[in-house]
Amino acid sequence: MQILQKHKILEKNATLLLIFSFLVVTIGGIVQITPLFYLENTIEKVEGVRPYTPLELAGRDIYIREGCYVCHSQMIRPMRDEVERYGHYSLAAESMYDHPFQWGSKRTGPDLARVGGRYSDEWHVDHLRDPQSVVPESIMPKYGFLMDRPIRPDRIQQRLRADARVGVPYDDAMIAAAVADFRAQADPNADPSGLMERYPGAQQRNFDRQPQLTEMDALVAYLQVLGTMVDFSTFEPDPNR
Ligand code: HEC
Repeated sequence: MQILQKHKILEKNATLLLIFSFLVVTIGGIVQITPLFYLENTIEKVEGVRPYTPLELAGRDIYIREGCYVCHSQMIRPMRDEVERYGHYSLAAESMYDHPFQWGSKRTGPDLARVGGRYSDEWHVDHLRDPQSVVPESIMPKYGFLMDRPIRPDRIQQRLRADARVGVPYDDAMIAAAVADFRAQADPNADPSGLMERYPGAQQRNFDRQPQLTEMDALVAYLQVLGTMVDFSTFEPDPNR
């Protein structure tokens, strides 16, 4: 075979082999990557997914600050054991407003992608203060100090603006109302209409049951929204996307 004879030249010359392998890898790379630039969106939009409320966003920042992601993932893979344990597998759209996303790669503790609504606020507060009081064999550290750390919305507008800049659809009205929404979500006596209009389905209550607004309120508000935005009783994946 003539062509195989020619291949011998490549096999015997290291530099030529390197150049030709590089060419092959380059073509393969271009074929895979170029179409992505021409796709308008690689994420299928799903009804119900909304940006985090200011309070949830602050809770998310505490989650990242405390390194919860070191032990917890937020990504349920489409495999039977995971779906049976944690619920519907995660959709790309569910983390489309996460910057950075919290998929994680380490599960010292369970996945938290659908922990929202699974436990009461009191359970979360008890568990975060003293995990071993709820799950005796737990190795999770205690986070009771969050109850004593007041949280103020001083910089929440800049925080929303930063996310808006990387593509989260916070509009001017949301940014203007950020301080009010932040306070209203943890105050059961506040008028919820503005908050609900801007963030449909937002949960409004005193999350840590203390009079003052603390980091615990924000963190529990965040945990309670995880995985709850999409209504899976009506969700149908679109096979054409
Ligand atoms: C050193 C590892 C570690 C860190 C850090 C950690 N956790 Fe955990 N977490 C665990 C383990 C192990 C469990 C399972 C036992 C238990 O429920 O306490 C758990 C359980 C949980 C649960 C209950 C999940 C379920 O479905 O039952 C929640 C909620 C939770 N952690 C939240 C957090 C938050 C929020 C933080 C950060 C403030 C955090 N964890 C930090 C190890 C960790």
